[in-house]
Amino acid sequence: MSTTDAPDLTLPGLVHDLKNVFQTILDAADLLAGDPRWESVAGAIQRGAEHGQRLVRGVSQVTDSTFDFAVIAGIAVQFAGDFLRATHGPAIDFQRRIEPGLRIRGNPVGWERVLVNLLLNSVQAMPQGGHVQLTASTGEDGTRIVLADNGPGIPEEILPRIFDAHFSTKPSNTGIGLNIVRSIVRSNGGRVRAANRPEGGAEFVITLSSAG
Ligand SMILES: Nc1ncnc2c1ncn2[C@@H]1O[C@H](COP(=O)(O)OP(=O)(O)OP(=O)(O)O)[C@@H](O)[C@H]1O
Ligand SMILES: [Mg+2]
Repeated sequence: MSTTDAPDLTLPGLVHDLKNVFQTILDAADLLAGDPRWESVAGAIQRGAEHGQRLVRGVSQVTDSTFDFAVIAGIAVQFAGDFLRATHGPAIDFQRRIEPGLRIRGNPVGWERVLVNLLLNSVQAMPQGGHVQLTASTGEDGTRIVLADNGPGIPEEILPRIFDAHFSTKPSNTGIGLNIVRSIVRSNGGRVRAANRPEGGAEFVITLSSAG
């Protein structure tokens, strides 16, 4: 067998097979949605599978157009809420303050991944529940996206390492979420930094210069 006949075990091969996985989940959720008792569960399964489909389709998409940030923020917050309900998580109050009409440049799927990773980190940091606030606005210096929670915050000694690949304080996580976030933000010409808020909780600030 020549190398060109070798099965594709690389990312494109995985993307191909995952498409069938998500389609099957979507079709099964459709069946479930036909029963009023399972309608809301079916909705969560559908949204999860659609999120997965967008990830695999958008994995290598490069785009130079802009999108409506409020739409992507809404999808990401909805997904975090679905995640919470499915995992019997605590009560978290999500607030959004997005400047009306705010448009961001880049692949919306990438930004969906950024927001979902940050939101899930906040959720995982607050097993007793709490508040998460997502704000985004544009000023003279460019666009600022802030994700703030009122959890325990990030211990000062680990702050310099949290964006490193495979750094995690959670027993069963991989520790690559924030590394993905930083890569996507940088690929869009932006910067992301983490800090602790004076009033308690963690804060992630993304800045995109107007030129970027
Ligand atoms: N909002 C937050 N509050 C407190 N600590 C946080 C917060 N976000 C991230 N951290 C800390 O940063 C670490 C790295 O986060 P990262 O998202 O990269 O990995 P993870 O969440 O542990 O695993 P993964 O995202 O791969 O499932 C976390 O393990 C946690 O210690
Ligand atoms: Mg994470």
